Amino acid sequence: MYKSIAVVGATGAVGTIILDLLAKRNFPFQKIKFIASKRSAGNKIIFKDKEYIVEELQPSAFDGVDLAIASTPDDVARDFIPEATKRGVLVIDESGYWRMDPDVPLVIPEVNGDAIKNVKKGIISSPNCSTTQLVVALKPLHDYGQVKRVVVSTYQAVSGAGLVGTRDLENGSRAELNGQSYNYECFPYPIAFNCIPQIGSFKDFGYTSEELKLLHETRKILGDNSINVCPTAVRVPVANCHSESILVETERKITVKLARELFAKMSGVIVIDEPAEKKYPLPNICTGRDEVFIGRIREDISSDNGLAFWCVSDNLRKGAATNAVQIAELVNK
Ligand SMILES: NC(=O)c1ccc[n+]([C@@H]2O[C@H](COP(=O)([O-])OP(=O)(O)OC[C@H]3O[C@@H](n4cnc5c(N)ncnc54)[C@H](OP(=O)(O)O)[C@@H]3O)[C@@H](O)[C@H]2O)c1
Repeated sequence: MYKSIAVVGATGAVGTIILDLLAKRNFPFQKIKFIASKRSAGNKIIFKDKEYIVEELQPSAFDGVDLAIASTPDDVARDFIPEATKRGVLVIDESGYWRMDPDVPLVIPEVNGDAIKNVKKGIISSPNCSTTQLVVALKPLHDYGQVKRVVVSTYQAVSGAGLVGTRDLENGSRAELNGQSYNYECFPYPIAFNCIPQIGSFKDFGYTSEELKLLHETRKILGDNSINVCPTAVRVPVANCHSESILVETERKITVKLARELFAKMSGVIVIDEPAEKKYPLPNICTGRDEVFIGRIREDISSDNGLAFWCVSDNLRKGAATNAVQIAELVNK
């Protein structure tokens, strides 16, 4: 059992789900504290019927803490985590900042849980939300048939951009319907009644930072740099849950029947695939769930060893908070 744990970024979209999960899963600890920015310091948080005061993020907040689960922006994680680890804290981090550091394991417990044995800097990273659901789906296919190439297009919910993203969709939609204007806080274009084919900033070869995460993080988690990924990441006017259209080419052919069997055996995957009954995963039925949902499984009619499917998962849960709490549980075993 941990003596003292801290939830950093406790007031954010991911942080509030972490609180919910720690309470519902009876995560074991003796003391807990909640940390956020100066803006929220002094605010009250109710956790397991007890009131706590949010503390401001500063190095001394980590004195005596042994585990921190952190969900803050990248630059904040860059600056505070070395201060926390210096004080002996193990940090499970949701941000993108440490993920590709060779001395930081990037972990999805049901895919590469053993990687937690290689903690060198006192940090374990949790992958980007769009990567996690992709890799959970790829893992059983890779183990059976060696994934060679993936073409993935994402349909990412606004909650993936944090509380401000959700606010933008709600206020923007209301304004559009009332014929009013609204100044979007976090998206480059109106997200209401729209799709934006840019998440993050443009990097090499015309791909965005969000798209390149799908390539680099997938390779790191599966431990295989030969896997090729062609990603397109799109923000859509959906409140919560990312959807992905995935095409996988494998060395060894995987039929639809075999894919269903492989997915059924994979921990944390639920197949909803009855097209004749109009049953397939949808964001509004997967929201609030901790699993990765797969449907529309079909063979690629344009190549020999291709398999196409649709994948939906709650980006705030398995894509973030659930995965981080599962890592903390694994470390505690
Ligand atoms: N949203 C997702 O689906 C998702 C999925 C995977 C990973 N992530 C990653 O998780 C992290 C948090 O995302 P989010 O969606 O929860 O964002 P969010 O809703 O904007 O929450 C950000 C949290 O960080 C805190 N924070 C911001 N600036 C800070 C500062 N200078 N010092 C201390 N605390 C600060 C905020 O505190 P205040 O309330 O005081 O501002 C808030 O608690 C990001 O790195 C994101 O990329 C998000």
